[in-house]
Parts: sequence; structure tokens; C-alpha cells
Amino acid sequence: MKAYQYRMGGSIDELKLVDLPEPSAGPGEVVVRMRAASINFRDLLVVSGRYPRGQQDLIVPLSDGAGEIVDRGEGVTELAVGDRVTPIFFQDWDRGPMRDSDSHSALGGSIDGVAAEYRVFCADKVVKIPAHLSFAEASTLPCAALTAWNGLHGPRPVVAGDTVLTLGTGGVSIFALQFAHAAGACVAITSSSDEKLAKARALGASYTINYRTNPDWSAQLRELTGNRRADHVIETGGGGTLLQSIQSTRRDGWIHIIGLISPGEIDPVHILLAGVTLRGTEVGSRDMFAAMNRSIEHSSVKPVIDRSFAFEDLPEALRYLETGSHFGKITIEI
Ligand SMILES: NC(=O)c1ccc[n+]([C@@H]2O[C@H](COP(=O)([O-])OP(=O)(O)OC[C@H]3O[C@@H](n4cnc5c(N)ncnc54)[C@H](OP(=O)(O)O)[C@@H]3O)[C@@H](O)[C@H]2O)c1
Repeated sequence: MKAYQYRMGGSIDELKLVDLPEPSAGPGEVVVRMRAASINFRDLLVVSGRYPRGQQDLIVPLSDGAGEIVDRGEGVTELAVGDRVTPIFFQDWDRGPMRDSDSHSALGGSIDGVAAEYRVFCADKVVKIPAHLSFAEASTLPCAALTAWNGLHGPRPVVAGDTVLTLGTGGVSIFALQFAHAAGACVAITSSSDEKLAKARALGASYTINYRTNPDWSAQLRELTGNRRADHVIETGGGGTLLQSIQSTRRDGWIHIIGLISPGEIDPVHILLAGVTLRGTEVGSRDMFAAMNRSIEHSSVKPVIDRSFAFEDLPEALRYLETGSHFGKITIEI
């Protein structure tokens, strides 16, 4: 079978399409014929050796994929050949709070990922795809969608009438917009592009703010909300956006620390004075994934795909992601 392999510490040019043996299903396992994958900002960190979690030296990249079961091993009863599934991002994180050891089971970083024609998984490490989604749409769920879901449905779940602020128009942020809107929240979103902000309004965003033309964008958010500010912030930026995010959040509001795009440092006194809670948020567990899929099915949310690439054009797809010109997700047909 064809698969990509990447040797750590190089660049996108180090991605090689190679022939690997086709896997077979052992007891308790299923073989998935991968049909689609999607790429994340995180994959750029992996291929440039900047992924903050440990990573294998030689690895099959990409965490997010979808496919159909073509073989199942002895003892697998919950899944059948032909079932459409996606593997979970942290293969060891089933439920409850994440344990330190779960972080060593991240697909396409710590262990081999999904950029392959076939992959074998333990049967309880995949979840069924919502019925109304294509393989490409479902391939966007394991990392980007689940991270947004975890932010909004963590210790203080979003409720109708909340204001949710989400940063940029990449994969995580557009899912946050869609989930928050479906939950009846009022959504505010930032972007460097007015054209992308118009697309965000079409998806249900009430407040749209250009962070490039208005670097003090928290002032605009406060004005737009009558100084009520956000109950939740999906913080995909990083140290460089955090102060603005704090100043956009109401007292007792939650900021879900997710992104590493924009470096910078802030004085913790701002957190104290604003009375906000910062929460490190990493993807999510299998049980959260199942809950998210039930909600996606019920609300008919459809992932937003900006562009799709052929399998042999994965390096080109990553270069396109690097430009930041996309809106939502970029997928790969396998
Ligand atoms: N903690 C976790 O578990 C987890 C999971 C998934 C992703 N992440 C992280 O979350 C971040 C977003 O991931 P993604 O896959 O959604 O990325 P992505 O699809 O590449 O989207 C990135 C978007 O961020 C926006 N952006 C860039 N610089 C910005 C800035 N200074 N302020 C505000 N927005 C800015 C841009 O939007 P515009 O073009 O609209 O300006 C860009 O399109 C990354 O750092 C990624 O590593 C973390």
C-alpha cells in the first residue's frame, strides 16, 4: 500500500510517498481503508520538528482521517465490515480527564498517523461517522472539531444566550463558530480578511472584527456587546493574542487556551484584574468525540471544506495551509 513517511527535523520536502506492507487485523482490531484525511496547523509543527509533544523519528503523518472497515479481527462485535469510521486523535484517551500518558498516543506525531491507504486500529479507538457526512467532511472531526467542542462543552458548557469569541477563520475556529451558533450562542469572530469575515457572517456569526486593521480589537468587541464581553473565548492565537482575549472576556468568563500561532508574553496580573479563568484545552477524549458526533447529527452541522487535494499532492496541501489563505478545512482524498 502507499503511505507517506516523514523523518523528524526536516521540512515539508522530507515527506516521502513509500510502499509499506498492508496491515491485517489481529484480535480486537479493525483494518480501515482510509478514504480521506484533513490537515491541521499542527501538521506543519510536526513536519518542521516544532511539535510540543514528543514525536517519533520516522513517522506516518496526519492525525485526522476517515475511511471504511475492510477487515475485523477475532472478538470485534460492535463494528462490521463496511462501517464508516474515524480514528480518535489520542488513541489512549477514552474518557474522563486526560492522563499524562495519554499524550504519548497522538496520531501522526507520537505514533503513526493516517496518511496511508490502510491503517489498523483497536476497535474501540475508532468512532462511527455521522450519517450525513462524506468521508472528506468526517475527516475534519478528530482534531479541529473536537478541540472546539471540548472548549465549548468542558467544565462550563456553553448555553443559549452566551457570547462566544473565536479567533481567526481556520479549522478550529470555524467549528467553534458552528457549534456555538447551533447551541444558540451569539458568536463573535476575528480575522485578517474582510472577505473571510463575510463568509463567517453567512455561517451565523453576529459580530465580525478585522484584527489586522484594528489591532485593539477587544475595544471593538466590548463596544459591540455593550461591554458585556464574551463568556467563552476559543483562544487559537497564543501569547500574542492573549491580552486582547482577556480584555474581551467578562468576569468569570472562560478562555480556552488552544493555539500556538502567535507568540508573545503577558503579565499574569491581567488575568487577576479581569477575573477570568484560563484553561489549557487539548483535543478531547473518545467519549467527547461520540457526544460531539451525536450533536453534529442532530444539528446537521456540516464541516466547511475550503479545498481538497489528491493524495499525491499532500506536500502542496501543506504549503497551501502554510499561506493561511484557507477558510475552514483542507482535505486530502486517499
Ligand atoms: N490545543 C489543541 O489541542 C489544539 C488542537 C487543534 C489546533 N490547535 C492549535 O490551534 C491553532 C489553530 O489551529 P487550526 O488547525 O485551526 O489552524 P489553521 O486552520 O491553520 O488556522 C489558522 C488561522 O489563524 C488565524 N490567525 C493567524 N494569525 C493570527 C493572529 N495573530 N490572531 C488571530 N488569528 C490569527 C488565521 O485566520 P485569518 O486568516 O482569518 O486571519 C489563520 O487562518 C494552532 O496553533 C494549532 O496548533 C491546538
